[in-house]
Amino acid sequence: MLDRYTYQSVLAASEMIHWRIEDIIGGDKRLDFHKPFMPESLARVGPLTFLNPDEKRILNQIRGNAYLCIFGLVEEFILPFVLDQARSHLAGDDYRVRALLSFAGEEAKHIQLFKKFAEEFQEGFVTNCETIGPPEEIGKAVLSHRPLGVALVILGIEWATQKHYLESIRDDSELDPQFKSLLRHHWIEEAQHTKLDTLMIQALTDNLTDAEIEIGFSDYASIGNLFDGGLTQQVEFDMQALQRATGRTLNEAEQAEFRAIQLQALRWTYLGSAMTHPTFLATVGEFSPAGRKQLEEMAPAFS
Ligand SMILES: [Fe+2]
Ligand SMILES: [Fe+2]
Repeated sequence: MLDRYTYQSVLAASEMIHWRIEDIIGGDKRLDFHKPFMPESLARVGPLTFLNPDEKRILNQIRGNAYLCIFGLVEEFILPFVLDQARSHLAGDDYRVRALLSFAGEEAKHIQLFKKFAEEFQEGFVTNCETIGPPEEIGKAVLSHRPLGVALVILGIEWATQKHYLESIRDDSELDPQFKSLLRHHWIEEAQHTKLDTLMIQALTDNLTDAEIEIGFSDYASIGNLFDGGLTQQVEFDMQALQRATGRTLNEAEQAEFRAIQLQALRWTYLGSAMTHPTFLATVGEFSPAGRKQLEEMAPAFS
C-alpha cells in the first residue's frame, strides 16, 4: 500500500481542485444559527437528556466552533512540518517538491478558512466561546517530538477528516449548509494530504531500525496525551460557554454527565476517528505490525 501513491499523481489530482475561501464564506454566505453545525456522531449532544432541543443545538454549535479552532491549530503545526520535509530534499524529485509545497499552500489556506469561519461564528453567536491554545505553543510542544511521531499524528488526523465527512457529514441534510460546505471543501483537499503523509512516512521509515520505529510510536502516544489534556480543557470551556449562552447553571450531576459524555465525544472526533481508520491502520501495519497492534489496543479508550 505504501507504494500505491506517487508525488506526480497526487500533484496532478491536487491541481484539478480549485476553490477559494471567498467561494465558501463571506458576503451573503453566512452561518445559519438555527441549524446544527456538527453531525451528531461527533457532537454527541443527544445523550445529554437534561438539555432541551434548543440547548442541544447551541452546544452543537459550540462544538462546531471548537472544531474550527482545533483543526486550525493542528494545521498550524502541519504547515512548518511539511515545509521542513520539503526543504530537506529540494534538489531531488521535482514532483516531490511541488507536491509538498502545494500541500503546505493548501494548509495555509485552510488555516485562514477556519479563522474566517471562527470570526463569522463570533459575530453571530450569543456569547464568547473559549478555545484551547495558543496554537504556537501547542505546535511547539508537538514539533519537539521526532519526525515519525509527528508524521503519524498528521496522517491520522488527515484520515480522520475523511472519515468525518464520508461517514457523518455527507448524508446529513440537517446541517447548516455553510458549515457543511466548509467540511466538504476541506475533505476534498485533505484526500490528497493523506497520500502525501503516507509518502512522507515511507521516506521517514525507510532507514529506521525497529527500535527507532518503536520510539516513533511512543512519540505518537506522547502527542496523543498532550492532545487529550487539551480536549479535557476544551470540555470545560464548552460547558462554561453553554451555561453562558443559555443562562442556565448545570447542577453537579449534570456537570459530571456533561464531562463524561463530551470528553468521549471529543476523543472520538480528534483521536479515535484516526486510530480506527482502516487505511491508517493498514499503512502503519506495513512497516510496524506491533505499532498497529498498539494503536488497536489504544483505540477503544478514544471511541
Ligand atoms: Fe487542512
Ligand atoms: Fe491537511
